[in-house]
Amino acid sequence: KKKLRIAVIPGDGIGQEVMPEGVACMKAACKRFNIDIEFDESFNDWATCDRYLKEGSMLPDNWKSVLSQYDAIYFGAVGDPEKVPDHISLWGSLIQFRREFDQYISLRPCRLLPGIECPLANKKIGDIDFWVVRENTEGEYSSVGGKMFPGTDREFVIQDTIMTRTGVDRVLKYAFELAQSRPKKHLTSATKSNGISISMPYWDERVKAMAEGYGDVKVDKFHIDILCAFFVLRPEMFDVVVGSNLFGDILSDLGPACTGSIGVAPSGNINPTGLFPSLFEPVHGSAPDIAGKGIANPIGMIWAGQMMLEHFGCKDAADKVMQAIEEALGKGGPEVITRDLGGKGDCKGLGKHILELIETL
Ligand code: NAD
Ligand code: IPM
Ligand code: MN
Repeated sequence: KKKLRIAVIPGDGIGQEVMPEGVACMKAACKRFNIDIEFDESFNDWATCDRYLKEGSMLPDNWKSVLSQYDAIYFGAVGDPEKVPDHISLWGSLIQFRREFDQYISLRPCRLLPGIECPLANKKIGDIDFWVVRENTEGEYSSVGGKMFPGTDREFVIQDTIMTRTGVDRVLKYAFELAQSRPKKHLTSATKSNGISISMPYWDERVKAMAEGYGDVKVDKFHIDILCAFFVLRPEMFDVVVGSNLFGDILSDLGPACTGSIGVAPSGNINPTGLFPSLFEPVHGSAPDIAGKGIANPIGMIWAGQMMLEHFGCKDAADKVMQAIEEALGKGGPEVITRDLGGKGDCKGLGKHILELIETL
């Protein structure tokens, strides 16, 4: 088997703090299971706001050809809104990766893990266990539109939502197949066709058409407003939830919040064709409010690495990393667990604890 090459891009804020823990855990898992892999850590200033202030861009011009040579990108977080407006830093980095590398699936698990006090009452392990499948290249995140007559009374802005048949169908197909592979075979579609009267009825229409090919999958749909309410009121009902770019974004912070902290949530930005590298990152951002304090939870970053191992078919290593995360949370105690989860631990301490479990469990 050929050597896997990973481009490591920590980015801004706590991205720089959680990434070393993620890389160390990945190296430990790959060593233990004899996976031939190389982590290229020479991209430290890529996708940083400091680079933007120095060079005028988040990435060098040749970023696409450089990163195309890697099997995957392991990514931290971007954003330092005091220095650079968020839409500039994010559209100059992460959003470009997703669009240019056609990572049309954003795959985000939402699972109640041991040792975490669930903010929802009376939930036990297994009650919250579903995947959010988010469309990741089009929809509401479109570059079509603009500002007209700026600075005048006639000023207006337009940003068009784009839903292509190819774009909608391919994310639905992925979600249906994921649902089909799970015991409950249940797919929930996020819509808002009562209010958003062109794009969302189209989304519903494609869901209905796709469902015909998956007779064994039980399908339902909810408008995004009540769907958010049901995430909180009855999370047990979900198995796979599919949504447009914006709805999927919102649901994938709300879901993990219902399981205790967005600091644990991972995400895969996947190009299933393999024509371009996929990108694995935590769901959370650069957390300027805690950056530099060393208290960020590294689990979202480590779990994202676990998804990357799974993506490469390295099941033993992926399972071991997940087992180590669960063991650390379940038995680590308040000295190890980070503050977002009510403990007193720090980023390095929790990272090291998980690494040792990966080596020894
Ligand atoms: P955020 O996820 O950075 O932070 C939200 C809250 O959650 C903060 O209180 C933060 O301290 C806490 N938090 C987040 N991750 C944590 C962790 N690992 N451990 C402990 N606590 C954690 O979201 P935000 O405040 O909306 O955005 C901050 C910046 O990050 C902005 O510039 C935003 O654009 C950017 N952002 C980037 C990404 C990304 O790169 N994928 C994702 C979301 C936000
Ligand atoms: C995420 C983030 C990004 C998104 C931002 C930072 C552009 O919130 O990965 O969920 O909206 O996709
Ligand atoms: Mn988000």
